[in-house]
Amino acid sequence: MAYEFIEVRTEAGKVGVITLNRPKQLNALSNGLMDELGQALKAFDADEAIGCMILTGSEKAFAAGADIGAMASYTFADVYKGDYITRNWETIRSIRKPVIAAVSGFALGGGCELAMMCDFIIAADNAKFGQPEIKLGIIPGAGGTQRLPRAVGKAKAMDMALTGRMMDATEAERAGLVSRVVPFAKLMEETLGAALQICEYSQVAVLAAKESVNRSFESGLADGVMFERRMFHALFATEDQKEGMDAFVNKRKAQFKHR
Ligand code: HXC
Repeated sequence: MAYEFIEVRTEAGKVGVITLNRPKQLNALSNGLMDELGQALKAFDADEAIGCMILTGSEKAFAAGADIGAMASYTFADVYKGDYITRNWETIRSIRKPVIAAVSGFALGGGCELAMMCDFIIAADNAKFGQPEIKLGIIPGAGGTQRLPRAVGKAKAMDMALTGRMMDATEAERAGLVSRVVPFAKLMEETLGAALQICEYSQVAVLAAKESVNRSFESGLADGVMFERRMFHALFATEDQKEGMDAFVNKRKAQFKHR
């Protein structure tokens, strides 16, 4: 499938890589781009051969936000009737396989929100995160006021949303927004390494792990732990649990069949 605003490739036959590709606009997230991103993510999610996905941008920008040029003339009726954001931005939340964000350069506004919708973020040392919407007379609208405080706590989330300042990669790692920081030259190698490692494991267990961690954001502790416990119990019904534990006991490498 040919895309206009993204590039799509497969690494090692099992990692789906999606590169945001509107370089002149610093990967500003237009409706067309978000439609294509949703299609590409769904196609990889449905592909048996794919075990993990990577979402990335350019060296200068992961994405500098929603497309301000397009938004500038929107009216309330336009965005409300057209279900702006809800219509196509959150497809990524329905993707069941892991999606890792590899962030270099600017991840601002909707770009920061898109990175936060991925399962975890690996950042290059030049990455800059921010929710500068306040400078435009709006607020974050793709989950930034909800996911940022869950990631970094209220103090920093308020600071970012109210002042519009950027956080560099070091601060983002310290605050818990990103899981790893690496030199830019190592960003894809490191992220691909993580993705390939995930592909090695039982896909059934991987899906269960993702679903269980995500449940922690949607439920109270007792309900979340019960969800986890039931998923944990259920994994004893898989061939992969037998294989994984037998391989450990017999000091050999496990060969998971994703069953
Ligand atoms: C449209 C954008 C853009 C954006 C940059 N560009 N960000 N176009 N939407 N979000 C365009 C610029 O207009 C410019 O086009 C080109 O990309 C290069 O940008 P420069 O500003 O010249 O680059 P630089 O001086 O290096 O500054 C980089 C920057 C700055 C700091 C990232 O571009 C910037 O502040 N961008 C806006 C960031 C922002 O406010 N994001 C939040 C958007 S609101 P030309 O044609 O002049 O070369 C948002 C809403 C979220 O995301 C809620 C719903 C999702």
